[in-house]
Amino acid sequence: MPLLTEDTQLGGQKVERVVFTSEVIQQRTAELGREISAAYSASDRLLVLGLLKGSFLFMADLVRAIQLPLHVDFMVASSYGDDKKSNGDVRLLYDAAASLKDRSVLLVEDIVDSGHTLGRLIPRLQARGPSSLEVCALLHKRLVELEPPARWVGFDAPNEFLVGYGLDYAEDFRHLPYIASL
Ligand code: IMP
Ligand code: MG
Repeated sequence: MPLLTEDTQLGGQKVERVVFTSEVIQQRTAELGREISAAYSASDRLLVLGLLKGSFLFMADLVRAIQLPLHVDFMVASSYGDDKKSNGDVRLLYDAAASLKDRSVLLVEDIVDSGHTLGRLIPRLQARGPSSLEVCALLHKRLVELEPPARWVGFDAPNEFLVGYGLDYAEDFRHLPYIASL
Protein backbone atom coordinates (compact mmCIF):
# COMPACT_ATOMS: atom_id res chain seq x y z
CA MET A 1 0.00 0.00 0.00
CA PRO A 2 1.51 3.37 -0.93
CA LEU A 3 2.19 5.61 2.08
CA LEU A 4 1.21 8.79 0.28
CA THR A 5 -2.32 8.49 -0.98
CA GLU A 6 -4.86 11.03 -2.12
CA ASP A 7 -6.27 11.30 1.44
CA THR A 8 -2.99 13.01 2.42
CA GLN A 9 -3.99 15.91 0.21
CA LEU A 10 -6.97 17.00 2.32
CA GLY A 11 -7.04 20.72 2.83
CA GLY A 12 -5.32 21.18 -0.49
CA GLN A 13 -1.93 20.38 1.03
CA LYS A 14 0.29 17.42 0.40
CA VAL A 15 2.55 15.86 3.00
CA GLU A 16 6.20 16.25 2.08
CA ARG A 17 7.92 13.19 3.55
CA VAL A 18 7.06 10.32 5.88
CA VAL A 19 9.19 10.77 9.02
CA PHE A 20 7.95 7.87 11.20
CA THR A 21 6.13 4.94 9.62
CA SER A 22 3.21 3.20 11.25
CA GLU A 23 5.42 0.14 11.93
CA VAL A 24 8.11 2.19 13.66
CA ILE A 25 5.48 3.96 15.78
CA GLN A 26 3.90 0.65 16.82
CA GLN A 27 7.28 -0.83 17.80
CA ARG A 28 8.24 2.21 19.87
CA THR A 29 4.83 2.35 21.56
CA ALA A 30 5.18 -1.30 22.61
CA GLU A 31 8.62 -0.49 24.10
CA LEU A 32 7.24 2.51 25.97
CA GLY A 33 4.42 0.33 27.28
CA ARG A 34 6.92 -2.16 28.67
CA GLU A 35 9.02 0.58 30.31
CA ILE A 36 5.98 2.25 31.85
CA SER A 37 4.62 -1.09 33.07
CA ALA A 38 7.96 -1.72 34.82
CA ALA A 39 8.07 1.75 36.40
CA TYR A 40 4.75 1.54 38.26
CA SER A 41 2.90 -1.02 40.32
CA ALA A 42 -0.79 -1.71 40.79
CA SER A 43 -0.83 0.17 44.13
CA ASP A 44 0.15 3.41 42.30
CA ARG A 45 -3.42 3.73 40.96
CA LEU A 46 -2.04 4.95 37.64
CA LEU A 47 -4.03 7.65 35.86
CA VAL A 48 -3.06 8.13 32.23
CA LEU A 49 -4.06 11.67 31.31
CA GLY A 50 -4.09 12.48 27.60
CA LEU A 51 -3.95 15.95 26.12
CA LEU A 52 -6.49 16.18 23.34
CA LYS A 53 -6.78 16.18 20.53
CA GLY A 54 -3.22 15.44 19.43
CA SER A 55 -2.63 12.45 21.72
CA PHE A 56 -5.78 10.50 20.92
CA LEU A 57 -4.24 7.79 18.73
CA PHE A 58 -1.05 7.54 20.79
CA MET A 59 -3.14 7.21 23.99
CA ALA A 60 -5.20 4.43 22.45
CA ASP A 61 -2.10 2.46 21.47
CA LEU A 62 -0.07 3.27 24.59
CA VAL A 63 -2.66 2.23 27.19
CA ARG A 64 -3.12 -1.08 25.38
CA ALA A 65 0.63 -1.67 25.76
CA ILE A 66 0.62 -1.00 29.54
CA GLN A 67 0.14 -4.13 31.60
CA LEU A 68 -1.16 -2.60 34.83
CA PRO A 69 -4.54 -1.56 36.14
CA LEU A 70 -5.04 2.06 35.12
CA HIS A 71 -7.64 4.73 34.55
CA VAL A 72 -7.81 7.01 31.52
CA ASP A 73 -8.85 10.64 31.39
CA PHE A 74 -8.35 13.58 29.05
CA MET A 75 -7.81 17.31 29.08
CA VAL A 76 -8.02 19.85 26.30
CA ALA A 77 -5.45 22.62 26.47
CA SER A 78 -5.07 25.02 23.62
CA SER A 79 -2.07 27.15 22.78
CA TYR A 80 -2.54 27.13 19.02
CA GLY A 81 -5.07 28.62 16.68
CA ASP A 82 -4.92 27.39 13.13
CA ASP A 83 -1.40 28.72 13.15
CA LYS A 84 1.83 26.73 13.09
CA LYS A 85 3.36 28.69 15.99
CA SER A 86 2.51 28.74 19.71
CA ASN A 87 1.44 32.13 21.00
CA GLY A 88 2.42 31.14 24.56
CA ASP A 89 -1.13 31.58 25.83
CA VAL A 90 -2.33 28.22 27.19
CA ARG A 91 -6.04 27.88 27.87
CA LEU A 92 -7.71 24.90 29.56
CA LEU A 93 -10.77 24.21 27.41
CA TYR A 94 -11.74 20.95 29.12
CA ASP A 95 -10.53 19.67 32.48
CA ALA A 96 -10.21 16.03 33.54
CA ALA A 97 -13.07 14.71 35.67
CA ALA A 98 -10.78 12.37 37.63
CA SER A 99 -9.17 13.48 40.88
CA LEU A 100 -5.36 13.49 40.75
CA LYS A 101 -4.95 13.42 44.53
CA ASP A 102 -2.58 10.67 45.73
CA ARG A 103 -2.48 8.99 42.33
CA SER A 104 0.43 8.41 39.97
CA VAL A 105 -0.38 10.57 36.99
CA LEU A 106 1.16 10.02 33.56
CA LEU A 107 0.53 12.99 31.31
CA VAL A 108 0.55 12.02 27.63
CA GLU A 109 1.35 14.68 25.03
CA ASP A 110 1.72 14.37 21.27
CA ILE A 111 4.69 16.68 20.77
CA VAL A 112 6.86 19.04 22.80
CA ASP A 113 7.67 22.06 20.64
CA SER A 114 8.04 25.40 22.49
CA GLY A 115 7.24 23.62 25.78
CA HIS A 116 4.64 26.28 26.64
CA THR A 117 1.74 23.85 26.97
CA LEU A 118 3.42 21.49 29.44
CA GLY A 119 5.32 24.33 31.13
CA ARG A 120 2.04 26.00 32.06
CA LEU A 121 0.05 22.83 32.70
CA ILE A 122 2.46 20.88 34.93
CA PRO A 123 2.45 23.33 37.88
CA ARG A 124 -1.36 23.45 37.77
CA LEU A 125 -1.56 19.65 37.89
CA GLN A 126 1.11 19.40 40.61
CA ALA A 127 -1.05 21.67 42.76
CA ARG A 128 -3.73 18.94 42.79
CA GLY A 129 -1.55 16.65 44.90
CA PRO A 130 -0.73 13.65 42.70
CA SER A 131 1.70 11.21 44.35
CA SER A 132 3.78 11.52 41.17
CA LEU A 133 3.47 13.33 37.86
CA GLU A 134 5.45 12.19 34.82
CA VAL A 135 5.28 13.07 31.14
CA CYS A 136 5.25 10.67 28.20
CA ALA A 137 5.59 12.61 24.94
CA LEU A 138 5.36 10.83 21.61
CA LEU A 139 7.63 13.42 19.98
CA HIS A 140 10.11 15.99 21.29
CA LYS A 141 11.71 18.63 19.09
CA ARG A 142 14.44 19.22 21.73
CA LEU A 143 14.21 22.98 21.25
CA VAL A 144 13.70 23.39 24.99
CA GLU A 145 14.07 21.12 28.00
CA LEU A 146 11.07 20.80 30.29
CA GLU A 147 11.55 21.22 34.01
CA PRO A 148 11.22 18.44 35.13
CA PRO A 149 12.17 16.72 31.83
CA ALA A 150 9.75 14.33 30.11
CA ARG A 151 10.46 10.89 31.58
CA TRP A 152 9.46 9.06 28.40
CA VAL A 153 9.87 10.30 24.83
CA GLY A 154 8.90 8.24 21.81
CA PHE A 155 11.10 9.96 19.25
CA ASP A 156 13.31 13.01 18.92
CA ALA A 157 11.61 14.96 16.16
CA PRO A 158 13.14 17.11 13.43
CA ASN A 159 12.39 20.81 13.68
CA GLU A 160 9.73 20.65 11.00
CA PHE A 161 5.96 20.86 11.17
CA LEU A 162 4.71 17.29 11.60
CA VAL A 163 1.27 15.86 10.96
CA GLY A 164 -0.47 12.52 11.25
CA TYR A 165 -1.04 9.93 14.00
CA GLY A 166 -3.04 12.56 15.91
CA LEU A 167 -1.09 15.66 14.90
CA ASP A 168 -2.88 18.18 12.75
CA TYR A 169 -2.43 21.20 10.62
CA ALA A 170 -5.64 23.24 10.94
CA GLU A 171 -7.43 19.96 11.88
CA ASP A 172 -6.32 18.12 8.73
CA PHE A 173 -4.19 14.96 8.67
CA ARG A 174 -4.90 13.68 12.23
CA HIS A 175 -6.10 10.30 10.95
CA LEU A 176 -2.95 9.32 9.06
CA PRO A 177 -1.42 6.15 10.57
CA TYR A 178 2.10 7.56 10.08
CA ILE A 179 3.85 10.87 10.91
CA ALA A 180 4.89 13.09 8.05
CA SER A 181 6.32 16.58 7.58
CA LEU A 182 4.45 19.28 5.70
P1 IMP B 1 4.20 23.58 22.61
O1 IMP B 1 3.29 24.21 23.64
O2 IMP B 1 4.81 24.64 21.69
O3 IMP B 1 5.23 22.65 23.17
O4 IMP B 1 3.33 22.77 21.61
C1 IMP B 1 2.38 21.94 22.06
C2 IMP B 1 1.27 21.69 21.06
O5 IMP B 1 1.43 22.36 19.82
C3 IMP B 1 1.26 20.23 20.72
O6 IMP B 1 0.48 19.50 21.64
C4 IMP B 1 0.66 20.22 19.34
O7 IMP B 1 -0.75 20.21 19.42
C5 IMP B 1 1.10 21.53 18.73
N1 IMP B 1 2.29 21.34 17.88
C6 IMP B 1 3.56 21.69 18.14
N2 IMP B 1 4.39 21.33 17.13
C7 IMP B 1 3.61 20.71 16.22
C8 IMP B 1 3.88 20.09 14.95
O8 IMP B 1 5.02 20.00 14.44
N3 IMP B 1 2.80 19.56 14.32
C9 IMP B 1 1.53 19.60 14.83
N4 IMP B 1 1.25 20.15 16.01
C10 IMP B 1 2.27 20.72 16.69
MG1 MG C 1 -2.59 20.83 17.48
